[in-house]
Amino acid sequence: MLDYYRLAGPLVRLLDAETAHGLTIRLLKTGWVPPQPRFDPPQLKIRLWGRDFANPIGLAAGFDKNAEVPDAMLDQGFGFVEIGSVTPRPQAGNPRPRMFRLPEDGAVINRMGFNNQGVTAVADRLAARRRAGIVGANLGKNKDTEDAAADYEIGAARLGPLSDYLVINVSSPNTPGLRALQGRDQLEALVGRTRAALTRAMPQGAPPLLLKIAPDLAWDDLADIAAVALDGALDGLIVSNTTVARPDSLRSGNARESGGLSGAPLFESSTAMLRRVYELTAGKLPIIGVGGIASGSEAYVKIRAGASLVQFYSAMVYHGPALVTRIKHEMLDLLTRDGFAALAEAVGADHREARG
Ligand SMILES: Cc1cc2nc3c(=O)[nH]c(=O)nc-3n(C[C@H](O)[C@H](O)[C@H](O)COP(=O)(O)O)c2cc1C
Repeated sequence: MLDYYRLAGPLVRLLDAETAHGLTIRLLKTGWVPPQPRFDPPQLKIRLWGRDFANPIGLAAGFDKNAEVPDAMLDQGFGFVEIGSVTPRPQAGNPRPRMFRLPEDGAVINRMGFNNQGVTAVADRLAARRRAGIVGANLGKNKDTEDAAADYEIGAARLGPLSDYLVINVSSPNTPGLRALQGRDQLEALVGRTRAALTRAMPQGAPPLLLKIAPDLAWDDLADIAAVALDGALDGLIVSNTTVARPDSLRSGNARESGGLSGAPLFESSTAMLRRVYELTAGKLPIIGVGGIASGSEAYVKIRAGASLVQFYSAMVYHGPALVTRIKHEMLDLLTRDGFAALAEAVGADHREARG
């Protein structure tokens, strides 16, 4: 199997991180990155929300903000792709540079600030897709919108009919005031209004609505979020977004840049939070685990901690898309080692074993 990225990766990494990303998107768009040979063994399949995922490995939001390459990324072997975050109106985001590699730490810091082409451009691209395959849409708000919920209503109504799932993203650290929407009262109102807009747009049945949360929430806040979720307002949770914390262990020169930290240093805290959210929701709600995954064993730890699906982004920066197939092989080995015939049996296994 040709690992295109092993050849191109070192060159791509000579460029500024965002320039390299733009180039990667262009190469994917023009078909220069060959698809990976298909590897989707039946053990890795999972059915959630009435949809069949060929495998549980997803591309996290932020890589394909404008839905330019969801099908090309599905061809790289991802079981699903999340596009966005998308805001109603196009916006430029923060001044560059705003994305930084931390190579010694296997990490990235970004303060992009929801740069994206807006909901109309994204809806047009999703409507023009030719390939089957699961694509979720991650919704954000414009920086200058005061009534935040109104932006999520627009996003849900426009992108719901074109997506397999929707995500309310209130956890990016780079839009002022956004994360305050995770508080109980604000959240109830936000989720309620978004859900209502979605139902109005799709009275015949809407895609599942998920909430993506920050790893910096206090554990008390998690109980509130779980309560809102279990009220029937949400169909799933994504744990987690990037962190504003800066662990002492960081060694890279860019460690002091402001923004959200992702990649390896986020693994432990995001997995601990996932474990807690699974407990608080008693395993009743599918959770997508994201944060610091760069191998099959890390993906599998999140599954056993309670994730039904996982995603990654930062590891793409260092390993390229061939990592997806590697993760799937490693995960299959781990499932087999532990005697699971299907992925669903492994979801939350740690909690059952701990209880005996
Ligand atoms: C450059 C960059 C841009 C991102 N943009 C978004 C975004 O627009 N919306 C979102 O919900 N998450 C965004 N994320 C967060 C990722 O989806 C993911 O939650 C986080 O990076 C942790 O996963 P990782 O450690 O595998 O990167 C972004 C991450 C990076 C590195």
